[in-house]
Amino acid sequence: MNGLVKQRVAGGILRRGLATASQTPRLKTFKIYRWNPDKPAEKPRLQSFQVDLDDCGPMVLDALLKIKDQQDSSLTLRRSCREGICGSCAMNIGGRNTLACLCKIDQDHKKETKIYPLPHMYIIKDLVPDLTNFYQQYKSIQPYLQRSTFPADGKEVLQSVADRKKLDGLYECILCACCSTACPSYWWNQEQYLGPAVLMQAYRWLVDSRDQAGAIRKNMLQNSMSLYRCHTIMNCTRTCPKGLNPGLAIAEIKKAIATD
Ligand code: SF4
Ligand code: SF4
Ligand code: FES
Repeated sequence: MNGLVKQRVAGGILRRGLATASQTPRLKTFKIYRWNPDKPAEKPRLQSFQVDLDDCGPMVLDALLKIKDQQDSSLTLRRSCREGICGSCAMNIGGRNTLACLCKIDQDHKKETKIYPLPHMYIIKDLVPDLTNFYQQYKSIQPYLQRSTFPADGKEVLQSVADRKKLDGLYECILCACCSTACPSYWWNQEQYLGPAVLMQAYRWLVDSRDQAGAIRKNMLQNSMSLYRCHTIMNCTRTCPKGLNPGLAIAEIKKAIATD
């Protein structure tokens, strides 16, 4: 059977695992940010949990859910798809903003991993940031197709293959906010500066050949705060867990406005 055994674990659930010569658990420490709005007098703190890496899935989200299921059900985090699509498990892991479901656990069990919520955000509880302002900013750029004329035949507004290609690298954004909350300009001016995630979506509609609101879209960004707070530090691009380049999109918007 190639060493494959079934083991009974807490809760009576059967699991499969590789039999190892040594039964010593590979315990890894996760230090997790905790803050409870029901106890506002208590300061935020890091709480340590230990997880046996041989009895846990490979991703940080697996460890967090295991801790929540088996050690402390009050640990609060967002997650849904567990495959990098919904964007809800964005958090700061080992100093980097990323998605917990796409972030592999460092298998060196002697090294602890620190987990915080996305930085410089108001916190609702534990690892859950308040994204109200972020979504309001997204709404403000009118992220939908706008046209004043329509094809005479009443059919679809067509797009060439070349024009469709211009949306690659933009439409894949899942609005996880990892980039915006890694941006120092966004940290300091979050009420007025739109930040890389929202600006990349502004660009996504600006370059869509089917959209006819380009002039209005550019005009909305023509002030000192919404767009020009970006100083090309590129933290945004470095941290994007989907490998996108919001820094470049911002540069393209600036170029489009400058060459109008
Ligand atoms: S650009 Fe990347 S980091 Fe920013 S919101 Fe989109 S997917 Fe997340
Ligand atoms: S490139 Fe612009 S948006 Fe990206 S981190 Fe730097 S200042 Fe922020
Ligand atoms: S759970 Fe959906 S992106 Fe991580």
